[in-house]
Amino acid sequence: MNETLAINAAPSALDPLVRVNGVTLQYKTPDHLVTATYRVTFEIDAGDRLVLLGPSGCGKSTILKAIAGFIKPVEGDVRLRNKIITGPGPDRMMVFQEFDQLLPWKKVLGNVMYPMTINGISESEAKARALDAIDKVKLSKFVDVYPHMLSGGMKQRVAIARAMAMKPDVLLMDEPYAALDALTRRKMQDELLQLWDEVGFTLVFVTHSIEEALVVGSRIVVLSPHPGQVNAEVNCQHMGQDFRDTPEFQALAKRISRMLFDDAPTAS
Ligand SMILES: Nc1ncnc2c1ncn2[C@@H]1O[C@H](COP(=O)(O)OP(=O)(O)O)[C@@H](O)[C@H]1O
Ligand SMILES: [Mg+2]
Repeated sequence: MNETLAINAAPSALDPLVRVNGVTLQYKTPDHLVTATYRVTFEIDAGDRLVLLGPSGCGKSTILKAIAGFIKPVEGDVRLRNKIITGPGPDRMMVFQEFDQLLPWKKVLGNVMYPMTINGISESEAKARALDAIDKVKLSKFVDVYPHMLSGGMKQRVAIARAMAMKPDVLLMDEPYAALDALTRRKMQDELLQLWDEVGFTLVFVTHSIEEALVVGSRIVVLSPHPGQVNAEVNCQHMGQDFRDTPEFQALAKRISRMLFDDAPTAS
């Protein structure tokens, strides 16, 4: 790689919000090196609903962790507004799949306020922003309730409110609905889209479901199996459950399915 490219350049209006630039990500275990992704490149523009789609183990979570700044690429870089990401920050908030990502000893309001208060936002502003975010995920009646009293779907809504209240540049979601039943999952997908319509945030959403990718995404980055490489990018103009019933949905699902199962590139 050209050394000059690795230097932070001044941001320009033409830059994408996030650029994942030739990124190879590895894990070192005591006895071997696991290459999770190989030279992955894609861009995320402000307002995108970018979906990372691929089979289990292809490195989707690892890419999300690199955008979050939890792990560093061994090759390439990840940039936010053209600045190389070197660690985690409140400008990138993550929602995980697990229902236990909330603090069990804090009520819903306390959970949503927590990242704001530890990031220096005043108590009064944190409370106002938390109540607004809780309202947006339709949980106003549950502000004074502990997480163990909530259903899985409600816990995920709290996690979304907690992330959104920080007003991040990018919301990162790692298979947030994978552990929910099918009906709740559809409802949550629609609520997320409604929230996106209302608030207008930038979303990076990981899933291994072609259907979920098409319902949620405006752009889908299709990854090949382990180690993950970008197989194709698919634009998707429609969104929501109604889209499922259209011939276009079926055609796109078929096209993506072929990409996932037939056309995997081989790592060099
Ligand atoms: N902490 C880790 N240590 C070693 N290998 C890991 C670790 N986390 C993930 N991997 C490996 O990296 C690859 C990609 O994992 P992951 O990003 O979790 O895939 P996905 O989210 O697409 O299912 C897999 O082969 C996985 O076994
Ligand atoms: Mg994963």
